[in-house]
Amino acid sequence: MMNSWANLGFDLHIELPQGIGIRAALLQTLRDAIDSGLLKPGTRLPPSRTLALDLGVARNTVADCYAELAAAGWLVTRPGSGTVVATLASTHSREVDPSPTRRRLTYSLLPGSPDASAFPRTAWISSARRALTTAPTDAFATTDPRGRVELRNALTTYLSRTRGVRVDPSRIVISASSGHGISLLARALGGTIAVDAFCLHLHRQLLVDEGLLTIPISVDESGTCTDELVSTSAESVLLTPTHQFPLGGPLTPARRATALEWASTTGGVIIEDDYDGEFRYDRKPVGALQGIAPQHVAYLGTVSKTLSPAIRIGWMVLPDRLIEPVLATKGPYERWVSSTDQLTLADFIESGRFDSHIRKMRTSYRRRRDQLVATLAQQVPRVRVAGISAGLHAVIRLPSGTEQSVLAAAQARDLGLEGLSVFRHPDVSSVGGDGIVVGYSTPTQSQYSRTLDVLCEVLQEVSTAIVSSPLAAIYGAFCGHGFSPRTAR
Ligand SMILES: Cc1ncc(COP(=O)(O)O)c(C=O)c1O
Repeated sequence: MMNSWANLGFDLHIELPQGIGIRAALLQTLRDAIDSGLLKPGTRLPPSRTLALDLGVARNTVADCYAELAAAGWLVTRPGSGTVVATLASTHSREVDPSPTRRRLTYSLLPGSPDASAFPRTAWISSARRALTTAPTDAFATTDPRGRVELRNALTTYLSRTRGVRVDPSRIVISASSGHGISLLARALGGTIAVDAFCLHLHRQLLVDEGLLTIPISVDESGTCTDELVSTSAESVLLTPTHQFPLGGPLTPARRATALEWASTTGGVIIEDDYDGEFRYDRKPVGALQGIAPQHVAYLGTVSKTLSPAIRIGWMVLPDRLIEPVLATKGPYERWVSSTDQLTLADFIESGRFDSHIRKMRTSYRRRRDQLVATLAQQVPRVRVAGISAGLHAVIRLPSGTEQSVLAAAQARDLGLEGLSVFRHPDVSSVGGDGIVVGYSTPTQSQYSRTLDVLCEVLQEVSTAIVSSPLAAIYGAFCGHGFSPRTAR
């Protein structure tokens, strides 16, 4: 439902999210508008009768929402002077998060976050209520380090049905995230591990922190060049086969086969980070590599993309030989993940709420990606989005030497953007690896179009500077020529 609140004295377009009921949608929209600064402290909201008329909803619904937000401290209601945004409301998040790198940006396309405003609050609360009402007493005591059996049972059905994972509950170990799983596996495996020349830097650092030596192998738009594994001394490899992070290619069938052959002939372990396998938009997602060789692949999953990184739940499906070593590194009882959250997630999955949330978000993210591609095609036609139609991020490759200019132009507009170079392994040459990684799931829906316009302004500005520069000939058109870390190394 789109509305323009002209009666507020300024032009604020809002879109009430569908499918969660008017009251929840209005609460969420108002909270987001205050939190993002669209509604500034002191702004007077329209009388509940007027807003109800604008939105075509009952006046009581609006009055209830105002009362609830006032009780929570977002709004202040004064008899005779109406309802205004509270002074503390918009400064709240800045006060609790003083980190300069995490300061609130006006616009953000930083990758790594799902649409936080779409978290299914009501459905999650229903699952929590049911799970905790029916939980056995031992759920509130110290728990098995493999994780709650209710969650391992739910994941067994879910992972085999949706991702083709070969699994039974005894081979699942619950973790706090994929990153936590990577740390536990690294501690159990030790030695040398191959990683993509461009991969999630945070995960690579976790491996280094556990004392592993990381060896970069080349990656291009067809995924990891797994044929290079045989010429390394690696005993394990970290892959994102369904949707290579960050470049966005799926591992081709030939490269999947090469990786599996390497694992079976050398005894090497493939760590499969299936971080966004639920989100493929142009076809059914390719099944997990683990489904082909469960004794050679340690499979990692997480709710960080499907639900929220704030939940802190991930899972590993392990080859038999790794179960005990990983449990030994995890400790004698569960120290990381809340049992009550595990029970809630188990109910969330078994009740079908997880599937319906994913279906809803798949539609939303597909639309966002389509809008990104269409907007760029219209406003900056020389730019090309790399990778398959999947996931929550897209890569825009840039002419060599331009990444820093794009990031500086973005910073000048208070737009958060991540450069591709952040993800480059330190042993890989920087030549030819320029680009930006666009997290299109990060803005709230109401801010999305404006954020894309700002991105286009940034790209237009840099593109114009390049074209008018005497160096234009060596830069070439935006993304017109390929880049491969294979040649860059
Ligand atoms: C490649 C990759 N794997 C996994 C994740 C999720 O990580 P975690 O479960 O540690 O929050 C992300 C999040 O950005 C990612 O980019």
